[in-house]
Amino acid sequence: MPRKIIIDTDPGQDDAVAILLALASPDELQVLGITAVAGNVPLALTQKNARIVCELAGKVDVPIFAGCDRPLARDLVTAEHVHGKTGLDGPTLPDPVMPLQEAHAVDFLIETLKREPAGSVTLCPLGPLTNIATALKSAPEIAPRIGGIVLMGGAYFQVGNITPAAEFNIYVDPEAAEIVFKSGVPITVIPLDVTHKALVTRPRNDAFRALGNRVGVAVAQMTDFFERFDKAKYGSLGAPLHDPCVTAYLLRPDLFSGRHVNVEIETEGRFTRGMTVADWWGVSGRAPNATFIGDVDAEGFFALLTDRLARL
Ligand code: RIB
Ligand code: CA
Repeated sequence: MPRKIIIDTDPGQDDAVAILLALASPDELQVLGITAVAGNVPLALTQKNARIVCELAGKVDVPIFAGCDRPLARDLVTAEHVHGKTGLDGPTLPDPVMPLQEAHAVDFLIETLKREPAGSVTLCPLGPLTNIATALKSAPEIAPRIGGIVLMGGAYFQVGNITPAAEFNIYVDPEAAEIVFKSGVPITVIPLDVTHKALVTRPRNDAFRALGNRVGVAVAQMTDFFERFDKAKYGSLGAPLHDPCVTAYLLRPDLFSGRHVNVEIETEGRFTRGMTVADWWGVSGRAPNATFIGDVDAEGFFALLTDRLARL
């Protein structure tokens, strides 16, 4: 039986690859729906990009919902400097034809979690946690019904990518992240510590392009575009595939390793807003509340990703 998941996302080229990997794996993952949130670019674009990606994959039966257009308590911060004006710069892809669902993403999350058997649905947030936190605030009774949350966000050894202290997804809506991390739901965190080891080097990009299908070429063009930021900032060898690590973790958790530790979210720091304070060395005495992933078998990850993209 495939695992039921809901992908909450702010596409974003790396979100797009994460969605493609999930849609290419129907034997293992059943995507109940995709919920868009404001993040890399405003909501009007993230919901459009989610539909563009599903059409690129030829999976137009996946329901897509628009969610929150701004963080719980702060102004929206976007990342066009990384993802381009459209959020999906790189390939030239047609505007979507498939419809956006009428319902609000938060209502879809709540209704689905109440309908599906308790514990049977995994939430996969790939952007700011605004939709997830809003659902938990509106309907706290869903928390024990969530099978687990596997999210891309945060950092410990790699510290920040949007500020010296914080990773973008958590930085944009730290209040939402605090609600999620205090929810009691089993959480697995895929931080920059991992995703900065999943770099699209030139040979890996060539392997995407060599697939010869529309998806392979589009993914090569996406990663060609969004590597610029990390190459300039970190001198890295290619684009860090942040969000696809979430999907890969669901498919092959053996490719990853981490620790069950306490993770607190800084919401008040003058310089540390959005920092994930991961007690990696167990010095705080605070109760562990998340499995914080620290390492990935990058070769294994790219072999999985390339093999699956070939199927679309
Ligand atoms: O910091 C990286 C994260 O922020 C990724 O999810 C990327 O898509 C952006 O949302
Ligand atoms: Ca994202």
